[in-house]
Amino acid sequence: MFGLSPKGGLAMVTYERRAEVDVDRFVECFDHHDPSFAREGVPHAVYDQLRARCPIAHTDAHGGFWVLSRYADVATVARNDALFQSRHGFTIDPVREEGPTGAPGDYGARPKPLPIELDPPEFFEYRKVLNPLFAPRRMARREADVREITNSVIDEFIGRGHCDLFDDLCAPLPAMVTLRFLGLPEDEWRKWASPVHEDIHSDRAGEARPPVGVDLATMMAVAAQRRAAPRDDWLSALTHATVEDGRLLRDDEVLSMAYVLLAAGVDTTTNALGSALVYLSRNPQARQRLIDQPDILATAIEEMLRVFAPVQGFSRTAAEDTEIDGHAVKAGERVLMLWASANMDEAEFPDAAQVKLDRLPNRHFTFGVGIHRCVGASLARLEMRVVLEEVLRRLPDFEVDEGGLVLQPAVHTIYGFSRIPASFTPASL
Ligand code: HEM
Repeated sequence: MFGLSPKGGLAMVTYERRAEVDVDRFVECFDHHDPSFAREGVPHAVYDQLRARCPIAHTDAHGGFWVLSRYADVATVARNDALFQSRHGFTIDPVREEGPTGAPGDYGARPKPLPIELDPPEFFEYRKVLNPLFAPRRMARREADVREITNSVIDEFIGRGHCDLFDDLCAPLPAMVTLRFLGLPEDEWRKWASPVHEDIHSDRAGEARPPVGVDLATMMAVAAQRRAAPRDDWLSALTHATVEDGRLLRDDEVLSMAYVLLAAGVDTTTNALGSALVYLSRNPQARQRLIDQPDILATAIEEMLRVFAPVQGFSRTAAEDTEIDGHAVKAGERVLMLWASANMDEAEFPDAAQVKLDRLPNRHFTFGVGIHRCVGASLARLEMRVVLEEVLRRLPDFEVDEGGLVLQPAVHTIYGFSRIPASFTPASL
């Protein structure tokens, strides 16, 4: 077992389920798409070794790319957006990209994700459209929505005394919130969220990337309605937003940004919540502390986000020949910035492997760093706080059935669980 035992009364991370996986092999040839990477604790075991032995690694996997595992190197690359660009893709995938066929309604395998795959100066035009949607005051006004949805979701299973925390809570909540805010029907959350989870957590090595499973035609039809008759939702904001010299966003741009909001809003937060709940089930002292000291919840959430970062890493492409800490990187080479590894770097976080619920400062990279830093961080934090508050209030004795816990089938980009069966004292409404 690669694990840490409780020390000084602090709740610790445990990597109990690390199966017999050859971590050295991953250090020699890093491949986050290798099926054996998707085991509990394996990514972190690999990152620990990378930081210790080979912090600026190069792998031949998937056409070759650099792998950065230290906090300082990740920060350097992410902050240098002129030299390390996003336009060539923000993930390193084993699939072949295929463009649009030209048929009506065919947006290609997937719309170009805006603004995540744009670089300055164009990037800022699109990012400024999104910023106001997530402004702290605006988010604060939406807390009532998040709480209402959270409680309606919990109402569905609280009387049973058991549930699957993934299927019954962590998946529906962010999906319903995102759909409500976008202006799409939240009761159809499965239809919208399932293709996103499936897309993110599958590996199709060597195959052409399949078209987006999300119903883009309906999304486009609702956007057209909002263009004609705006409401108070994100699709209305997008269809009336202007860029460049005051022109309205085109339909394809609206669709791209709406799709990014859906995909980014659904899977990440679902997995962050799942990992946090598994941690609290495994660490009753930590859970009790949050019940007794609710004022530390916001700080505790930051710590859980640090240690259980759902997004493992995103990539950039070098615009010209350069070097990273003495390693020559050529123009056109890709660089994977491992946010999840940076978060465990002792140089930035003393006792990095310990979960310290009151850790301060905590400048983690779970939401990235630099100009592309997550625009939805305020919403993710709000959802996590409200869900944890309601879970600790309404099912404080929940216990995850460890035997039934299942990790996502692929965790190359986003790490989390896909089955989290749990039981608790049932309550009537
Ligand atoms: C725990 C939950 C979340 C995590 C861990 C997360 C993580 C990230 C990360 C690491 C980036 C940086 C991308 C880059 O550097 O290339 C990012 C960007 C982004 N995120 Fe999130 N995210 C979360 C929740 C959300 C939510 C709830 C939304 C909106 C509904 C959202 C929307 C976006 C968008 C639109 C971008 C692109 C920003 C840009 O390119 O300027 N995210 N996110």
